[in-house]
Amino acid sequence: MAGAGRSGELASILHFYAEAGVDCALNDTPNDLFRESLQAKTRAPAPKATGQGGSSTGRNARPSPPATPPARSATVPDETAVDSARQAAAGAKTIDELREVLAGFNDCNLRFGAKNTVFADGNPSADVMFIGEAPGRDEDRQGLPFVGRAGQLLDRMLQAIGLDRTTSYITNIIPWRPPGNRTPTPLEIELCRPFVERHVVLAAPKVVVLMGNVSTKTLLNTTRGILSIRGTWSTYHPNSDTDIPAMPTLHPAYLLRNPVQKRLSWQDFLNVRIRLDSLAGESD
Ligand code: URA
Repeated sequence: MAGAGRSGELASILHFYAEAGVDCALNDTPNDLFRESLQAKTRAPAPKATGQGGSSTGRNARPSPPATPPARSATVPDETAVDSARQAAAGAKTIDELREVLAGFNDCNLRFGAKNTVFADGNPSADVMFIGEAPGRDEDRQGLPFVGRAGQLLDRMLQAIGLDRTTSYITNIIPWRPPGNRTPTPLEIELCRPFVERHVVLAAPKVVVLMGNVSTKTLLNTTRGILSIRGTWSTYHPNSDTDIPAMPTLHPAYLLRNPVQKRLSWQDFLNVRIRLDSLAGESD
């Protein structure tokens, strides 16, 4: 009886954790984050990235090492944290520097529940950049965007218009997995926005494809829902000097739940193909 009581208690603790989004093991050994965050308060701030060396982007990109707790995240006011994100992102002069700066950015709490900083995959010189929402469990484990079921669907959609990860570049608005795959909060989005905006400027694609509500609303500064705005070309202005044609489309994870809507995505992807072909024709 005592054994049954104990396993019932364990089951209810596990159930509680799963509902709170604690649904996978990040490391082989447990971490006492409460103790670490107390210790972190007495530590010096993490060193800033130097911009020297660094990893390359693309399929062979090295996923970032697991995050370590911050020296000051719990006490940084929101506006100060957003300002520090803007300054950090603006200081990056190359994509590799941006990757390093992001890996050293400690003011977004999402990073402390994530195993990896998921930066990008594909070819940073590609004409087209695809931007999703945030990594899920598989992406967090592998440190690469769109490698789970939604990513496999994205790969098939790319293939249908003659693209793959050598001819496209893929990233997300948020580089850390939100617990339990919840939607990122407005503050989390504002903290990550400067990095994705800088990422687009540095990659300088000819076209961006915004997959789903979060990337569309964030980058086009619109409140329109994805079902109403998808399929219509907009212009994305990552800064006052840059205009990039942007195609909002449905998120592949939504298509997995609503396969009948794939016909709409097909139209959007064909539109992207036509635009890429005409841009290539102009530069010949
Ligand atoms: N969904 C996203 O938006 N991004 C990923 O990388 C994976 C799933």
